[in-house]
Amino acid sequence: MLKKIGVIGGGYIGGVLAQEIAHRRLAREIGVSDPAPMPNPSDPEDRQTVVKKQSVSIGKCLDIAEGLPVVSRDTKLVGSKDYSALAGAEMVINTAGVPRKARPDGTFPSREELLAINLKVTVEVAKGIKQYCPDAMIISIANPLDAIVFTLDKRLSPPKNRLMGMAGVLDSARYCYFVAEAANVSVENVNAIVLGGHGDDMVPVRSSCQIAGIPVAKFLDADTLAKIETRTRKAGGEVVGLLGFGSAFVSPAWAALEMAEAVIFDKRKILPVCVKLEGEYGVKGLFVGVPCILGKNGIEKVVELDLTDEEKAAFAKSAAGVAKTCEEAEAMLKTL
Ligand code: APR
Repeated sequence: MLKKIGVIGGGYIGGVLAQEIAHRRLAREIGVSDPAPMPNPSDPEDRQTVVKKQSVSIGKCLDIAEGLPVVSRDTKLVGSKDYSALAGAEMVINTAGVPRKARPDGTFPSREELLAINLKVTVEVAKGIKQYCPDAMIISIANPLDAIVFTLDKRLSPPKNRLMGMAGVLDSARYCYFVAEAANVSVENVNAIVLGGHGDDMVPVRSSCQIAGIPVAKFLDADTLAKIETRTRKAGGEVVGLLGFGSAFVSPAWAALEMAEAVIFDKRKILPVCVKLEGEYGVKGLFVGVPCILGKNGIEKVVELDLTDEEKAAFAKSAAGVAKTCEEAEAMLKTL
């Protein structure tokens, strides 16, 4: 159990994180920071006064705290509209920013289209971390995932082992779920990994997908697997299209907590993590999803897989997409 975990952004994902951290007894204290709701300068003054007193993070913390006697937990919860609720956190999970949302015509933006707005948010988040918990382990979820982690690195320069992005655990869980459903077996039997950037070019690695230790090709034909892999790449969008109001929020929170638990309990668990690569997989200086051993020091080791030639090419394409978004991020950061 940690002394304190900070959650940045108390929206849909942040809310699930706070309740799960309390329920799973992962920390004695949880701090949630979120500026919402923000007063609208064009509203009448009395309306602005009302909004100033409201706080999504303090409200959610109180809601969870009032339920603690029912589930027999003694977690302390603190919320704030600034970043002070993060003070002293040993780990922070960053969800700050806007999610993808379906447009009235049913289409929705790509994760990359969130870059401009979420970059500004991330610059603020980095200041908050620097001020209140500069040594915290950082797990970031906000999108576009790889570029936001890159930005946190640019602004905070933490040791490489302490900054990671959550995408691969979720993408791999989606892959596992679809395989389990198609093969009509338990999700517990499926082992699969998705590498690369958290975009439509992500790489579900068929050569390492197994059901009860047996290659997946024994259970599902190539056509079915190709369809599953396509669905996996677009799975986030499928949920956005169905929800209408935002993007997936339970599965990303659970996936980030899988990483948090590996660190908190020093599990040395191999999970796909968006991590800074320094030559591994042929990539230098970018944050891309690859398998890592996660333990008490965060990223203990990057694990290099033997990919097929086709998978290597797909990974290189995905990494090139990440490089492009990061170049755009770098240019925008100069203006912020
Ligand atoms: N600092 C902290 N929190 C902020 C800031 C900021 N500077 N700016 C916005 N937020 C808050 C919003 O007020 C909102 O409550 O971040 C929260 C985001 O919550 P939601 O809008 O509910 O979005 P959610 O579904 O939780 O997704 C958060 O994760 O998966 C990604 O694409 C998703 O980038 C999005 C992020």
